Amino acid sequence: MLNTKNILSIDDLSTDDIDTILSNADFFLEVLDREVKKVPALRGKTIVSLFFEPSTRTRTSFEIAGKRLNADVVNFSPSMSSLKKGESIIDTVRTILSMKVDLLIVRHSDSGIPKFISERVNIPVINAGDGTHEHPTQALLDLYTIRKKFGSVEGLKVAIVGDILHSRVAKSNIKLFKKMKMEVILVAPSMLLPEKNYFDEKVKHSIDEVINKVDVLYMLRMQFERQQNRLYPSIREYNRFLSLDIERFRRLKPESIVMHPGPVNRGIEISGEVMDLIDKYPERIKIEEQVSHGLAVRMALIYLMLSLSSEDLDSTRS
Ligand code: NCD
Repeated sequence: MLNTKNILSIDDLSTDDIDTILSNADFFLEVLDREVKKVPALRGKTIVSLFFEPSTRTRTSFEIAGKRLNADVVNFSPSMSSLKKGESIIDTVRTILSMKVDLLIVRHSDSGIPKFISERVNIPVINAGDGTHEHPTQALLDLYTIRKKFGSVEGLKVAIVGDILHSRVAKSNIKLFKKMKMEVILVAPSMLLPEKNYFDEKVKHSIDEVINKVDVLYMLRMQFERQQNRLYPSIREYNRFLSLDIERFRRLKPESIVMHPGPVNRGIEISGEVMDLIDKYPERIKIEEQVSHGLAVRMALIYLMLSLSSEDLDSTRS
C-alpha cells in the first residue's frame, strides 16, 4: 500500500513508497512474460484516462496496464467531448465521476491541472504529464530501468541532457534521482535551463564534458511545441554540443546506459546511426526497454492505488 492518495508529483512519494512500487513492478514484469498476460486483480474497477494533449506511448501504456489488471479502461477524448462546446474542465470531470469511476489519469498542456482536478474529486488522480511541470510515472519507470541494470542506484552518476527548461520528464527525474541519492549533472546551454538553478545541480554546457564519466546518459526530447521563440540557433549547433552521435557513443563507459523518454527526434538528440543500434546493444541503449518497463511500473502503481480501502482513502484525504 502507498502512503499517498494521488500521484501528482515525485514529492508525493516517500522512499518506502518508491520501493514498494518498484518491487511490485518486478512481479508484473514477470506477468507480462506469461502466455496469458493478465491478472484479475482489479476486476470491476473503472479507470478513465483524460488526455487533453496528444500522446502515444503514455496513453497506450496506461490503457494496456489497466486492461492487464482486468479493470475497465475508458479513454476520454476532449476533442470529441462537450469541452468543445465550452463545458469547463471541472464540469466534464464531474460528469465522468457520476458514472462511478475509481481512478483518473490526467494529462494536460498546462502545469497544475491534475492537481486542480484532484482537489475537486474524491477518487485518486495520477498525473500523466502536466505542461512543463512533472511526469512522475515516467520518472518511476526510468528509475526502475536503472535499478534493473545496476542493482543499487545510490551514488550512480546521471547526466540529463537537452531541453531541461521545458521538460517535465527532467523535473520529475531530477527530484527522483536525488531522492535516491544519485548524482545528477545537467547538460544544457543557458537558454534551455530554468533561469534560476533551483535544483542546485552541477551544470555543463557540452555533452563532451560528461560523456566518459557517467553511468546513465539521459537524453531529453527538444520540446519544439513548447518554445514560444526559437531558442536554439540551429540543429547543427545542437548537434555540436548536445547530441549523441556514434563517435560519442563509443566514448561512453562500456557499462553505461543511454536513455530517452521518447519520442526521439532522430538526428537531433540522437543520431539515426545510434538509434539503429538498439537491437545490437539492448544492454546499452534502453529506449525500448523503458517502454516495456513502463507497463509493469504502471500496473504496479494502479494496483497499489486501487488497493487502498475506502477508510484509508478517507484518512489520507486532507
Ligand atoms: C514525454 C512527455 O510527453 O512528457 N513523453 C512521454 O511521456 N513518453 C517526453 C516528451 O514528450 O519529450
